[in-house]
Amino acid sequence: MRMYDLILKKKQGKELNTEEINWMIKEFTEGRIPDYQMSAMTMAICFQGMDKRETFDLTMAMRDSGDVLDLSRIDGIKVDKHSTGGVGDKVSLVLTPIVASLGVPVAKMSGRGLGHTGGTIDKLESFSGFSTEISEEKFIDSVNTIGIAIAGQTANLAPADKKLYALRDVTATVDQMSLIASSIMSKKLASGADAIVLDVKTGNGAFMQKEEDAIALAKAMVDIGNRAGKQTVAVITDMDEPLGNAVGNALEIKEVIDALHGDGPEDLMEVVYALGTQMLLLAKRAEDEEIARNLITESIQERKALKKFAEFIENQGGNREEILHPDMLPKARYVIPVLAEEEGCIERILAQDIGIACMTLGGGRENKESTIDHGVGIILTKKISDTVKKGETLALIHANSKEKAVLASGLVKNAYRIAKEPAKKAPMVKCIIR
Ligand code: URA
Repeated sequence: MRMYDLILKKKQGKELNTEEINWMIKEFTEGRIPDYQMSAMTMAICFQGMDKRETFDLTMAMRDSGDVLDLSRIDGIKVDKHSTGGVGDKVSLVLTPIVASLGVPVAKMSGRGLGHTGGTIDKLESFSGFSTEISEEKFIDSVNTIGIAIAGQTANLAPADKKLYALRDVTATVDQMSLIASSIMSKKLASGADAIVLDVKTGNGAFMQKEEDAIALAKAMVDIGNRAGKQTVAVITDMDEPLGNAVGNALEIKEVIDALHGDGPEDLMEVVYALGTQMLLLAKRAEDEEIARNLITESIQERKALKKFAEFIENQGGNREEILHPDMLPKARYVIPVLAEEEGCIERILAQDIGIACMTLGGGRENKESTIDHGVGIILTKKISDTVKKGETLALIHANSKEKAVLASGLVKNAYRIAKEPAKKAPMVKCIIR
């Protein structure tokens, strides 16, 4: 087989067969197909697309390019959850202790943040001593004993995707539906779960800004999951403003602790309930949505989820005292308000710009080598549909440098759109794809 022929075939809009896709991914992973030929292929895919069978084959070839985790030593139905990424997205941190407290095993691989979106591991590392670098043995033992473990992705999880994603990133070929769907699903399927719940974000702060694109991506991922024999459900959720009020690592952890005390922001809790319901249904822990929602409420009200969160943090080296006393978590030296320059009603808060402001403060990574300042971030005191008077506080900047605070304030001010007429918040959950 020759890569030249496969590129030509795809350029002409023809289908690649299973054998060709398997060969291409193996040769590329093992360094026998040069980057320039693979780049030509991804560009051809961008123009000609891939059908469902090709997308599935690409996913499985990338899944099998490295380790596929075997979670069979954990009893029960393991349901994984994945978000396509957003600003202020701390859903996993509220949700996983809830479902674990209800007896559903949580064996989760998470990632770090890059650019304007944050990562679950970075947020968790706000706890002193906490680590996700745990052995497979400890990972499985932890789920069997306390019901929950979150680990960083191992280097050998879908290495073909790692190499291909890095190439797509510098050749303007990231935003192709089949390539995104196969990239995400290859990692999820390699993580060994029995069923998968996907949170596909749409709006300004999301990968898929248009709802119809988010739905198409969700359908592609659900199709892959089901073809692989893993029941998969996608929930399309709003990312037209940041989720919750806090953006920034330790600030978001404090919001998670509030949520587990029953005091979470409404938009965040709406997404937690929607995804949690699907997880409990897939895990066969609840027979219908009403039962699932009641179980979630009970777990929060009786502080079962909060206790599970503390157990989990301690088990992975963190200090549980920081949950009882969140003031012990990292905090910034300066807290500076961003004031409204006009009165009206908040119509939009450009989530991407808030994410960039947080990155500017040091709360996110500009590149893979950047280090994170866990204490900095932004608290949004006004959200969509709130009214505001001139001079009132829109947001609070938590900064460790006055210069960075000034830059971030400008970005946050520009992210707010204030209308003269009352504005309505769109529903958080757009639809569910099965
Ligand atoms: N996230 C991924 O893991 N892969 C993509 O292609 C896009 C987002």
